[in-house]
Amino acid sequence: MIYVILFLVVTYFGGIHAECGYQSCHPVKSDQINIHLIPHSHDDLGWLKTFEQYYWGSHDNVQSGGVQYIITSVVAALKKNKDRRFIYVETGFFWKWWLYQNEATREDVKQLVNNGQLEFVSGGWSMNDEGATYYQTIIDQMTWGLRKLNETFGECGRPKVAWQIDPFGHSREMASIFAQIGFDGFILNRIDYEDLDMRRKNRSLEFIWRGSPDHLGESSDIFTNVLFRHYSAPAGLCFDVKCDDEPIIDDPNSPEYNLASKAEDFVNNWIKPAISAFSSNNILVPMGDDFMYQYAEKNFFNMDKLINYMNSRDFDGVKYNVIYSTPSCYVKAVHDATNGTLNSAMKTDDFFPFASETHNYFTGYFTSRPTSKGYGRFSNNFLQVCKQLSTFANLTAEDENAKLDTLREALGVFQHHDAITGTEKENVAHDYIRLLHNGITNCENITSKALMKLVQLNEPDFTTCHMLNISECAPSETEKNLIITVYNPLGRPVNKYVRIPITDNSTGITITDPNGNQLTTQIIPIHGYVQKTPGRNSSAQYDLVFKAENVPPLGYKQYFFETTGNSSIPNEDFSKSEKLQVVYSENGDQLTMKNGDYQGYYGTAYRYYTGFGGEGGTDDPYVFRPDPDISPQSVGHNFIYIQYYGPLLSETHAYADNEWFSYVDRVHAQSSISEQEYLIGPLPYGRTSMEVIFQFSTHFEYDDQITTYSNGRESINRARDHRDTWNLTVTEPIAGNYYPIVGGITIQNGSKPGIAVINDRAQGGGSISYQNFEFMIHRNTISGGGAQEPLNETAFGVGVVTRGSFYIIDEKALTLGTITPKELSQEIYLGSWIFFTSPGNVSFESYQKTHVMEFSGLSNVSLPRNLHILTLEPWGPSTVLLRLENFIGNEDKTNSGLLTVDIQQMFSAFKVESMRETNLAANNWLEETVRMQFNQPDPKQKKVLPQGNNFNVTLEPMQIRTFILTISY
Ligand SMILES: *[C@@H]1O[C@H](CO)[C@@H](O)[C@H](O)[C@H]1NC(C)=O
Ligand SMILES: *[C@@H]1O[C@H](CO)[C@@H](O)[C@H](O)[C@H]1NC(C)=O
Ligand SMILES: *[C@@H]1O[C@H](CO)[C@@H](O)[C@H](O)[C@H]1NC(C)=O
Ligand SMILES: [Zn+2]
Repeated sequence: MIYVILFLVVTYFGGIHAECGYQSCHPVKSDQINIHLIPHSHDDLGWLKTFEQYYWGSHDNVQSGGVQYIITSVVAALKKNKDRRFIYVETGFFWKWWLYQNEATREDVKQLVNNGQLEFVSGGWSMNDEGATYYQTIIDQMTWGLRKLNETFGECGRPKVAWQIDPFGHSREMASIFAQIGFDGFILNRIDYEDLDMRRKNRSLEFIWRGSPDHLGESSDIFTNVLFRHYSAPAGLCFDVKCDDEPIIDDPNSPEYNLASKAEDFVNNWIKPAISAFSSNNILVPMGDDFMYQYAEKNFFNMDKLINYMNSRDFDGVKYNVIYSTPSCYVKAVHDATNGTLNSAMKTDDFFPFASETHNYFTGYFTSRPTSKGYGRFSNNFLQVCKQLSTFANLTAEDENAKLDTLREALGVFQHHDAITGTEKENVAHDYIRLLHNGITNCENITSKALMKLVQLNEPDFTTCHMLNISECAPSETEKNLIITVYNPLGRPVNKYVRIPITDNSTGITITDPNGNQLTTQIIPIHGYVQKTPGRNSSAQYDLVFKAENVPPLGYKQYFFETTGNSSIPNEDFSKSEKLQVVYSENGDQLTMKNGDYQGYYGTAYRYYTGFGGEGGTDDPYVFRPDPDISPQSVGHNFIYIQYYGPLLSETHAYADNEWFSYVDRVHAQSSISEQEYLIGPLPYGRTSMEVIFQFSTHFEYDDQITTYSNGRESINRARDHRDTWNLTVTEPIAGNYYPIVGGITIQNGSKPGIAVINDRAQGGGSISYQNFEFMIHRNTISGGGAQEPLNETAFGVGVVTRGSFYIIDEKALTLGTITPKELSQEIYLGSWIFFTSPGNVSFESYQKTHVMEFSGLSNVSLPRNLHILTLEPWGPSTVLLRLENFIGNEDKTNSGLLTVDIQQMFSAFKVESMRETNLAANNWLEETVRMQFNQPDPKQKKVLPQGNNFNVTLEPMQIRTFILTISY
């Protein structure tokens, strides 16, 4: 008897009743309007409250919201009635909840997932922002969330549709990424008010979006739906405890009876206007809002009644089919109803910038909280270093993986659309920094152990300096002898000018490379304002600079730092003015000419905008709205310039007559890249908002068009006062021409290369006037907007100070092609990391004999220039995740083309035994990733990839391929 019962139970959970996926959708009716009610809760991973506060439901006086109650009560409500459906989006929250559940609850959840009642959509760790994010971190955070779902629920847990209903504008790269993950559809919201209006009228809220029209073509197509209205429930139908709407009262004898009128209002006010906007007889109605369903039964109890009532009658002779649904069931229904063919125009551009109304351009958030954005970039840089080193040193023990996970997850949280965007409250912003810092600290533990193994040291005592950007670093300031390890996470060798603070410029420091060569060094004073940066814990007044040359790909070089007492070897001084003639003005502007040639000039300037309207104005953490009557002002006057020359670099230190602005203009010898490193803050905080910009002017004719990079990847052109798909009404000539700038701005000189300016973190920017473009680098606001708190961030008791850089590749360098904008931006986003360790009391010679001072995880084969090793990370026991990207596209015709590599020959640190290709997020095998076909494949667009033998892999321009490798050491 017992055996029989057991057998039945096992079969039940063993898959026979797994009815998830499209087969679990409630049937639609071809002769009726199908109303898809989509129960959902929008759970921000931090905004007005922190991630933890939202999870536990604490601080409800700030905002009511407790994710633990939401998921728990949804599970109970779904169990009561098999018809009910719910979607869950943010795996970062779901996973936290899952870890606290007992086996019985977990089994319940598995059953709800298996029968299609609980559906995961998107499935990333967070619902990431699409403006300020870098494609690598988006892919990582999707991968991490989807991995947890796949491991826990298998196929039924694998999302089929993306749901990005709150980010403030949508990027083209996001569409491309979702297509490559294998999603069948993409539901989004928050597009420009004029665009939305037009799409409603033209029945084009649904369309095919080609995320990579210039490169990946059809394989980047995705069916896209823009929500007809916002993601909240229709008026009168919010049954949540957080809502004031009346519940459904279905007893006709009650004086409170309201069922009929609620249903009629819904039909008349929501459904009827929607019918002409949707592409089929299916209408998607979100039923939820922020942090709703804390008491899910209340929502479902009322929806049950609404559904029963509406399905039991007609409305003025029209019958509606009202069903519980999910985004994937909705997409399937549209596909079936249209036979996969949409009449609307294919979209090939993006949804930036996003304006919710005439003067409400969400382009301020591209820059808000520049130090957070910088720290996020720094954290990702270190995460990639940490993943690679962990792989090479086979640090696969459980506790090591857990340490890597803290940074993976912190970065996943930070990609959330109120985190990296800077649209959260200040205490929440600080909490993100806490999470990232904690992740970095854990990863330092890994990198230290890994380097110990690779270098062959006995002690894992490698440290890193987090404050090198303001020349603070305890080891170089206090130790007489040091080993400096420079680790390069890129798949090609790089040169890096290492810059470390020292306290004494007279002690004679020598730097010796792994071959015993003593290197040229230069000592340069630290800018006076930098020395006074609030919170800087250093008395160093000098930086020591040396050039780490040819640091091996995915590898390191070690340098021996010794205080010898002998001054360093003399060398010819190098001066920027030998190459370029620079004129500095009293307000900080620069005019740079090539050999006195006015035709080759470019100019730079720092200005600030004054926000419109002061208090109550719309300039806020999200929105940029400068006062149209106040022209941009100079950041300071009576500038003083001090110039320094040396063998490696020349620097000009600029000082404004206020104490909140300065910059360093820098050129390295034998380099055609100039750098401006600014220090801004504390910004004056007054009666109006303030936005500081970096302006760049040229003599070039460039058709008012600039090239930017969508999430730092594919190039996307921006023309002033123009949108590709409708005639723009220009209401905000500045804010409306701002775009997310991740990676930089490039312009052409007619048909020739022009100039490229690369930034070091996400910022807003654009071309506002002829031959000028600009980046916004810092801002404060008087209004708080949705964040309910003005942007006036403080640190160390004063307004926050930010330091960052712009890198300028001039016309000559672009023409020569020595470095491309993409390559430079990779060198900044994935910079070489510097570790410090003590050599003990040994000489260089004895250290060199017993240690591995140079290492590359790659074998000695030379790799194609257009290959980027996007991901290398530990995956499972004896497996690693590898992503290769062909990162040079049509924007650089000289270097663009197919590339082929032999993966088995690539690595020196391990042997590749076998490999299997997956979709972009590595949560499904590529051969099993089958997508719903929308529209007919255009034979001209069909890409047939030459499939290489064995381990040979070919990549087209801009293609990314993902593999799980089985390896041995
Ligand atoms: C759907 O499209 C396919 C392919 O073009 C065609 O063969 C089929 O007849 C169409 N079906 C309907 C119902 O239109
Ligand atoms: C997905 O998870 C299952 C276990 O649930 C595992 O067997 C499978 O290998 C995973 N798929 C991929 C692509 O990793
Ligand atoms: C990696 O190290 C673990 C011990 O942490 C060991 O069990 C495993 O065999 C190693 N993997 C390979 C591929 O050598
Ligand atoms: Zn949100």
